Amino acid sequence: MEKVKLGIVGLGRLGRNHAENIHYKITNAELTAVCSAVQDEVDSVMAEMRPKYGTTDYMDLFKDKELDGIVIASNSAFHCQMVCDAAEAGVKNIYCEKPLGMTLEEIDLMKKAVETNDINIFQIGYNRRFDKSLQVMKKKIDEGFIGKPVLIKLMNRDPSWEADHIIKFSPTSGGLVFDMLTHDYDCARWLIGSDAETVYGMGDVFAYDGLAAVNDIDNCTISLGFENGVMGFMETTRNSAYGYHVEVEVFGTEGSVRMGTTPNRDRVVSMDKNGVNTECVQWFFEFWEPTFKAELQHFADCIQNNTKPVVGFIDGYKAVKWAFAAKEAVDKRKVVKIK
Ligand code: NAI
Repeated sequence: MEKVKLGIVGLGRLGRNHAENIHYKITNAELTAVCSAVQDEVDSVMAEMRPKYGTTDYMDLFKDKELDGIVIASNSAFHCQMVCDAAEAGVKNIYCEKPLGMTLEEIDLMKKAVETNDINIFQIGYNRRFDKSLQVMKKKIDEGFIGKPVLIKLMNRDPSWEADHIIKFSPTSGGLVFDMLTHDYDCARWLIGSDAETVYGMGDVFAYDGLAAVNDIDNCTISLGFENGVMGFMETTRNSAYGYHVEVEVFGTEGSVRMGTTPNRDRVVSMDKNGVNTECVQWFFEFWEPTFKAELQHFADCIQNNTKPVVGFIDGYKAVKWAFAAKEAVDKRKVVKIK
């Protein structure tokens, strides 16, 4: 079978990783074209992976009829423009990083562009759906192992040493609730099979004054009421002094399924005069590494077999809608109903 020819826009922190996965690890796909606004990034990938061509103009990729699909890994602020341009240029298969868009107007514009231009496959980058442990949890919940789901609890902690990066990117990322918690929200609605109906939250700046200056926060808790009656609780921070840490638990009438205890980096236990020590996972790339390959493998497989992705446009759309409600709930410390 012919390889799926993919073009990628954005070769930064995540885009470069996507390009490497496509080139080195996804055997039924070919990295055919690459694009970045930064010429050095294009040159570096061209030299190492030798795709057919590299460009700084993303329209070159969108007009290229040889490409079977486009991966968009640009900054979030450009997702809307790029998805709309791709749809109008006739691209039929799109993978787009989260969040789908930065405003409610943007996601409605994108919805219109995707629907009117008859997009075949649209996959959104909620990579947790491809995590093997979470998939096992999902299966057990669906099979009734925990009985009737009662409560979902999600913890999401970024390491404190990434603070400078977070402060720099906060004005364009959308901030803690928008950028970080939409992963947890998508994960929650997927695991329990229901959308949230109400959201309440509180949060503040505890550690980084630089975030206050850009109207962002570094710690937050959220309470959720889901349409199917399940209760939800999220806690998140940008200030975990010991490392990256994610946990998810779904508790039900007959038991519980849980991912994550202490976030050990490996199985090594070191002992010296200071005591017994294990190293902690450092950053999200390390923790979720297999999922980044798996989600692009899924995109290539969907194109090859003409099947729909497990996480699509509507999931990205709902996550952004939820994020606006959650942000309002946190900003005003009130219960917000999600329309
Ligand atoms: P980055 O700033 O490191 O890279 C952005 C890339 O987009 C750069 O290569 C830049 O040249 C390119 N770009 C921007 N405008 C362009 C244009 N007009 N034409 C061509 N290229 C353009 O950003 P990063 O951290 O890689 O994030 C990219 C996206 O991935 C964001 O939407 C972010 O939310 C998402 N992301 C998702 C993660 C996940 O866990 N699923 C983790 C990290 C990022």
